[in-house]
Amino acid sequence: GKGIAVFTSGGDSQGMNAAVRAVVRMGIYLGCKVFFIREGYQGMVDGGENIIEANWSSVSCIIHKGGTIIGSARCADFREKEGRLKAAKNLVQKGITNLVVIGGDGSLTGADLFRQEWGSLLDELLGRNEITAEQREKYKVLQIAGLVGSIDNDFCGTDMTIGTDSALHRIIEAVDAIVSTAYSHQRTFIMEVMGRHCGYLALVAALTSEADYVFIPEDPADVNWPEVLCDKLVQERSVGQRLNIIIVSEGAIDRNGKPITAELIKKVVVENLNQDTRITVLGHVQRGGNPSAFDRVLGCRMGAEAVMALMEANEHTKPCVISLEGNQAVRLPLMECVQQTKAVAQAMEDKNWELAVTLRGKS
Ligand code: F6P
Repeated sequence: GKGIAVFTSGGDSQGMNAAVRAVVRMGIYLGCKVFFIREGYQGMVDGGENIIEANWSSVSCIIHKGGTIIGSARCADFREKEGRLKAAKNLVQKGITNLVVIGGDGSLTGADLFRQEWGSLLDELLGRNEITAEQREKYKVLQIAGLVGSIDNDFCGTDMTIGTDSALHRIIEAVDAIVSTAYSHQRTFIMEVMGRHCGYLALVAALTSEADYVFIPEDPADVNWPEVLCDKLVQERSVGQRLNIIIVSEGAIDRNGKPITAELIKKVVVENLNQDTRITVLGHVQRGGNPSAFDRVLGCRMGAEAVMALMEANEHTKPCVISLEGNQAVRLPLMECVQQTKAVAQAMEDKNWELAVTLRGKS
């Protein structure tokens, strides 16, 4: 059978284990040899115990666990040619020519570059007598399939990334908890949520928790936001509300591109309204804990589809990313999705927010 390896890279997210499990079991079911690569690209470079064969029961009892049981890391060595040569040699030695990479756009881009470079890496290894001519021929093509694991939901091409739904649940639980204490003391709370340059978590959390105000990167606040915010808070209190909740995405900015931080918002509220105000930064709590049922199913479906895609691929097949479109797991061209995701980031950097939202919406 074919050799497949699965690894997780970049920031972890809930549901990655479900995806790892599905890759292992679907691979074994289809007669493949499936390997774990521990600690992301670093494990691929280091080899040895980091690349081990998985069996059916090595993925038992992981579907309900947050994080990734095979570890994840950001890897500097893989950015160097020498590191990639080591990685290629380690894969060839194990007979691995199929990779399932679970990570964000950076990790997926890295995998695609590795795939493109594969032939020349093998030539170099052959030249150094580190692999045989037979191995060079047998393992001449590397196939990859990507799954997007990230709580940020910032990847173009998929409706949901693995982990977003669980992170939202975590945020909502926290907001609900804050509401009860805020109510008792008639306080205003500013809650900072993750998402990097994507406001999805903040926006959906605000909508579903009945927050009074939300700041997100894609819809930068007008420079008079302090006034607008204070008017809104006063209006809510004037109709009898005992508390206010403001949700701020960690990447929130104003029209000039200046960051809107929880501290800054607090200053505005205290100075103008003299409200008793507190800040809660949710931080990595959002990335932890058990995955929701949705993320478990998403991970399962995407992992299984990735293996199917690899099994059906030939040397002319373009690498794909498995995406959720409506209720369907579909295969999309990996690099087009990555490029669109990068174009969104660029548009945001250029302060062309309309273009950013249009590009993201198109995907
Ligand atoms: O991309 C996921 C994410 O949790 C972002 O929301 C956040 O900005 C970042 O990772 C935090 O990175 P780290 O875990 O390296 O502190």
